[in-house]
Amino acid sequence: MSPVPVPRVTLSGGLEVCRVLNGMWQVSGAHGPVDRAAAVKDMQAYVDAGLTTFDMADIYGPAEEIFGLFNSQLKSKSSETSVPALQGLTKYVPRPGPMERKVVEKALQRSMARMQVDSLDCVQFHWWDYKDKRYLDALGHLSDLQQEGVIRELALTNFDTQRLEEITNKGIRISSNQVQYSVVDQRPAARMEQFCVANNIQLLTYGTLAGGLLSERYLGRAEPRSREELYTASLSKYKNMINSWGGWSLFQDLLVTLETVAKRHGCSVASVATRYVLDRPAVGGVIVGCRLGVAGAGQHISDSLRSCSPELKLTADDLAAIEAVTSRSRDLMASIGDCGDEYRG
Ligand SMILES: NC(=O)c1ccc[n+]([C@@H]2O[C@H](COP(=O)([O-])OP(=O)(O)OC[C@H]3O[C@@H](n4cnc5c(N)ncnc54)[C@H](OP(=O)(O)O)[C@@H]3O)[C@@H](O)[C@H]2O)c1
Repeated sequence: MSPVPVPRVTLSGGLEVCRVLNGMWQVSGAHGPVDRAAAVKDMQAYVDAGLTTFDMADIYGPAEEIFGLFNSQLKSKSSETSVPALQGLTKYVPRPGPMERKVVEKALQRSMARMQVDSLDCVQFHWWDYKDKRYLDALGHLSDLQQEGVIRELALTNFDTQRLEEITNKGIRISSNQVQYSVVDQRPAARMEQFCVANNIQLLTYGTLAGGLLSERYLGRAEPRSREELYTASLSKYKNMINSWGGWSLFQDLLVTLETVAKRHGCSVASVATRYVLDRPAVGGVIVGCRLGVAGAGQHISDSLRSCSPELKLTADDLAAIEAVTSRSRDLMASIGDCGDEYRG
């Protein structure tokens, strides 16, 4: 039986991606050991459910190779039966240094070889230090390589509004910016969203489930503090964010409210947290991290499908109840800065 079609968004270069994307940072090794063969096997359930878009990076350990293995397996089946097309979004995260064309080209060729593709659906560029303006050199070459057909969508990750504007003003066409966005971390709403809407740039978001903290699993739980409790890189990253935002007690108030909303709609807290972000202006898609190759991988697929189903509609009352809690939080724009500033000292 074919799956119900997953809602999609079209990026400015014409690539259609699912509104819920499968995140592959979880197979980088930072979240625990990775069984590559099991990870490749687990990808099938997502594709069978219609979730065909995967997000990875050149710095996510074996993620691009795992995608490549799955991609080639899928292609080899295509002579027997029709197989769905995958969308593989990667990131180019160079160490600051000379950004000559040959450096950029070599990095893209490595990603293509690992992903077993002849061209890249989408390259999301990250840069660590705005004082080093060579990000403009890199983006110039990426834009040329896009014209030559090596890349379909040229995108960014963790760029702030000021630099996004600078890059756009140079005539470089950016399809999307991948940033942290959740009920907790709403910094994109301050400036980023408005610029993106005006310039047809989609936001692809991460941290939307705070590594799983934004779920029933943590409702009524004592504050997790130890490495054993915060057992993935995501959990500790977003626990720090919750500390900056307002602390565990306020977070519990938020979970109680999200659970009330979830019960009204007969869905999970995670689905409400995802829908909330999907409904924000400029948000094209939410990336949900998948612990491929770990027991229980795939268990959240039905929640993800529910989150992006047009039938899940948050009401004005739902939004007001959430706002009543989030308005009691600290201002993360003031303490951290705009999108991506957490990566720059
Ligand atoms: N550009 C960047 O700088 C950047 C940074 C971080 C992430 N990302 C991207 O975003 C992706 C998402 O990663 P993230 O770190 O932000 O993690 P996340 O999506 O906030 O959290 C993922 C975790 O949430 C749990 N989860 C997922 N669906 C759930 C559900 N329906 N109910 C309960 N728990 C659920 C799972 O935990 P269990 O596995 O324990 O069940 C999963 O491992 C990454 O893979 C990567 O592609 C990009």
